Amino acid sequence: MRTVTTARELRAEMSAHRMRGAGVGLVPTMGALHAGHQALLARARDRHEVVVASVFVNPMQFERADDLARYPRDPSRDRSVLEEASVDVCFSPSVDEMYPDGEPVVRVDPGPLGSVLEGASRPGHFAGVATVVAKLLALVAPDAVYLGEKDFQQLVVVRRLVRDLSFPVGVVGCATVREPDGLALSSRNSRLSPAGRSAATALHRALLAGAEAWRGGSDPARCEQVVAREVSSEPLASLDYAVAVDDRLASVSSTPPPPVGHAPARLLVAAVVEGIRLIDNLEVGR
Ligand code: PAF
Repeated sequence: MRTVTTARELRAEMSAHRMRGAGVGLVPTMGALHAGHQALLARARDRHEVVVASVFVNPMQFERADDLARYPRDPSRDRSVLEEASVDVCFSPSVDEMYPDGEPVVRVDPGPLGSVLEGASRPGHFAGVATVVAKLLALVAPDAVYLGEKDFQQLVVVRRLVRDLSFPVGVVGCATVREPDGLALSSRNSRLSPAGRSAATALHRALLAGAEAWRGGSDPARCEQVVAREVSSEPLASLDYAVAVDDRLASVSSTPPPPVGHAPARLLVAAVVEGIRLIDNLEVGR
């Protein structure tokens, strides 16, 4: 694995690969790599001759300095995970390298997709994500970028970014990887106490209950209530939202449920446990 820390080195590396016609897959990460990232890397490894992983904790997508400071970092473990996944190029720039003039003046505005759900509680978060992803796509010029479905809103924003700004890249969403008890893997889970960790499983339980209600023919608004009630029954969890949306994040709860086997929809849930924001989602309606 070649580790590069500057845009110049990355461009030189990528142009050498492109000259020989190699296909490239990009897995963007903020480090603290876990089995969810390993699944993205494995998927990219299967499909591309060259796999690039970026490791960059992007300050632009954190609204609070303390959240940024507490974001878990483990560079030496990240390195072994990337080597084990047979990654070809690791791009791990400094903040100055990515933003040499400080916060960029020109940013990618995700529009209304960035101001709902997670964006309502985290103003500016998705502009930060969209801007850094656009920069990474410009630097790496991959054939495909791999993102986890756990951050469903992020996936929707990146799909739309690629479409609206005409980046010639495929966006591959990969299934959420879970602990045996259903908890979706997230770098933030490491900050939970054992009690908080156990409370966090309420999110997946709630989604399963909502999905069961969906399959049973309950309307989407009722399914949202089922999810909300289940999370609220966990004393350590404070619910932010439980919603049913389509693949453009539009609410489906004001329309009757589509027949099973049609129209994909997703139940999305967000809650705070021990001050840590947790999100999860489940596809329903297929
Ligand atoms: O999902 C993440 O880890 C980040 O939001 C991403 C896509 C690497 C952009 O910083």
